[in-house]
Amino acid sequence: MKILVTGGAGFIGSHTVVELVKAGYIPVIVDNFSNSVQSALVGIKNILGFEPTCYQFDCRDKAQLKEVLINEKIEGVIHFAASKAVGESVQNPLKYYDNNIGSTIVLLELMLELNIKNLVFSSSCTVYGEPEFIPVTEQTPRQPATSPYGSTKVMCEDILRDTAAISPIHTIALRYFNPIGAHESAEIGELPNGVPSNLIPFVTQTAAGIREKLTIFGNDYDTVDGTNVRDYIHVVDLAKAHVAAFSYLKTITETHFYDTFNVGTGSGNSVLEVVQTFEKVNGVKVNYEIGPRRSGDVEKIYGDVSKANKILNWKTEKTLEQSLQDAWRWQKKVSF
Ligand code: UFG
Repeated sequence: MKILVTGGAGFIGSHTVVELVKAGYIPVIVDNFSNSVQSALVGIKNILGFEPTCYQFDCRDKAQLKEVLINEKIEGVIHFAASKAVGESVQNPLKYYDNNIGSTIVLLELMLELNIKNLVFSSSCTVYGEPEFIPVTEQTPRQPATSPYGSTKVMCEDILRDTAAISPIHTIALRYFNPIGAHESAEIGELPNGVPSNLIPFVTQTAAGIREKLTIFGNDYDTVDGTNVRDYIHVVDLAKAHVAAFSYLKTITETHFYDTFNVGTGSGNSVLEVVQTFEKVNGVKVNYEIGPRRSGDVEKIYGDVSKANKILNWKTEKTLEQSLQDAWRWQKKVSF
């Protein structure tokens, strides 16, 4: 079964392409390489023994996308392609609304036109904002987003839900928590553009001497040690959740289907715990200081993932320690 993977050369997309092949699917990538690199395809090839088909264009290009969907006889879609930097989205909201929402609408229009039924979408725990209770379940109310990036995830969920309600497009939105790590082969991993805004690439780059010092954004939160708590999930576990979601979609017999699933580990770790665990499992020092809070940061969040465990028959297999070892192995490969 051929599956279109938009954004398939990116961090989560590339790992998902590998897991799709291992599960017997044939992925076809469309990526504009605006935030990914061709070398990801080489990494995938080194893992799989062959390079998956990849088309380079922006998936808002309806004519080109239609041609690929028809010529490749695509039967399902995993839609990763999106801009994802929270800070940049505040500075350039139109880029985010145009890219993230525009690509989703083009895709849905073509899926309707060509009668392609199964869709898995990249959503985010950002839709929960600062939750009243943790862990958050899929029933936890969504909150108005604190950034244009977050707004695009909420809006895309609504667009998908409303389209699924009147069409045969069976859709699952996966709400990711914080994806980290890299493939254990160190052939593929995260390649942030410029100075990383996410914690783990900043930690690995600091340990590698590329950054002088990590600033931990605040230690006066109401948490175990005052630093923010997040649910850090290994990217390969997250990739496997897409395969599980896809397999589940194929069993759906209802005319209309839309559902959401949390995809995390089910537990939280503080920033300090993560940094200290990184140092311990890798035997390296991370130079850090405590700085002021970062505006917009949620105090603590982690997910209840029992729905995905039960319905998708999926669960995480990797520990935080493994994630941090894989992240470091990858960093060493790209920087030394
Ligand atoms: N952090 C630091 N120093 C840094 C970078 C991050 O202390 O240099 C802290 C943050 O304050 C936060 C934690 O590390 O407490 C994780 O920060 P990330 O930027 O890695 O991740 P976020 O939880 O802020 O953001 C992630 C995704 C977003 C998504 C959001 C939803 O990156 O795409 O979760 O909550 F919108």
